[in-house]
Amino acid sequence: MQILDGKLVSEAIKAQLATKVAELKAAGKKTPHLAAILVGNNGASETYVASKVKSCAEIGYNSTLLRFDEQISEKHLLDHITMLNENADVDGILVQLPLPKHINEELVINTIDPSKDVDGFHPMNVGKMVSGLPTFVPATPYGIMLLLEHYQIPTKGKHAVVIGRSHIVGTPVSILLSRSANPGNCTVTLCHSQTTNLKEICLQADIIVAAIGKPNFVTADMVKEGAVIVDVGINRVADASKKSGFRLLGDVKFDEVAPKCSFITPVPGGVGPMTIAALLKNTYHAAIGQKVNMN
Ligand SMILES: NC(=O)c1ccc[n+]([C@@H]2O[C@H](COP(=O)([O-])OP(=O)(O)OC[C@H]3O[C@@H](n4cnc5c(N)ncnc54)[C@H](OP(=O)(O)O)[C@@H]3O)[C@@H](O)[C@H]2O)c1
Repeated sequence: MQILDGKLVSEAIKAQLATKVAELKAAGKKTPHLAAILVGNNGASETYVASKVKSCAEIGYNSTLLRFDEQISEKHLLDHITMLNENADVDGILVQLPLPKHINEELVINTIDPSKDVDGFHPMNVGKMVSGLPTFVPATPYGIMLLLEHYQIPTKGKHAVVIGRSHIVGTPVSILLSRSANPGNCTVTLCHSQTTNLKEICLQADIIVAAIGKPNFVTADMVKEGAVIVDVGINRVADASKKSGFRLLGDVKFDEVAPKCSFITPVPGGVGPMTIAALLKNTYHAAIGQKVNMN
């Protein structure tokens, strides 16, 4: 079994981006600038946004963090997004999800200028991704593809089982794995809470992508010997022995699944850091006016 080390690969991607940014600066060109919006005090969201902003600083990007109270009105939030859309210095905009219940997430995403939508959630960018056109690919699926590419995981003709059909992870991953590209060319089965024979389907999988949001959901009896396991889940589980009061668990029961598989992503240190690396790549492409072509 080999670990798919997202931390290591993301550091390599960040180092490449840092070199490219230094070149842009030396040529008198614009420094990439990411604007992040955080609403409320969700602990996980705070951590994610803080690492995104920190990573920007590490590689020489500019970043702006706009923090708003939980009670912010939808209109006020949309006005701020419009301001960022109109600000020529800002290349990428991300709104950390989830948003408070009184704010319509769809409206918020649709308000972001598609050319600054570095999370790749705008319907225009989703449509382009589905059509195989150059676009901003959603950061987590893009990060997973970069990780598979880095480790040269064979995907052609393989059966990939994706568990979870969210717009931000499961559905886009299933599209990317099935397209005619490398990584890609998988036969994909997309599973969800209404799938009746999940265990039987998983046992046929050469590759499993677990994006469910339930700790230790994928157990050893669901996994074929030699399968490749990508664990997207980040679940906070109470742990009094930790200073934070919690520890992070993936959607895969790592200890029992790892000995059976050929490759596996750890949690933390797998897909999480790759998501940030992919977001930074999208922001670089936004700054130079170029979209990612996954074909
Ligand atoms: N590593 C990263 O950077 C990163 C990024 C994003 C998310 N995440 C993590 O990834 C996990 C998933 O996130 P998400 O946003 O995709 O979650 P989500 O929107 O809650 O979607 C969860 C998916 O899992 C499916 N599901 C739930 N119970 C199931 C069951 N018993 N059997 C089969 N499928 C089941 C749901 O099916 P239905 O559609 O039928 O409800 C849904 O499609 C979370 O732990 C999240 O924190 C990590």
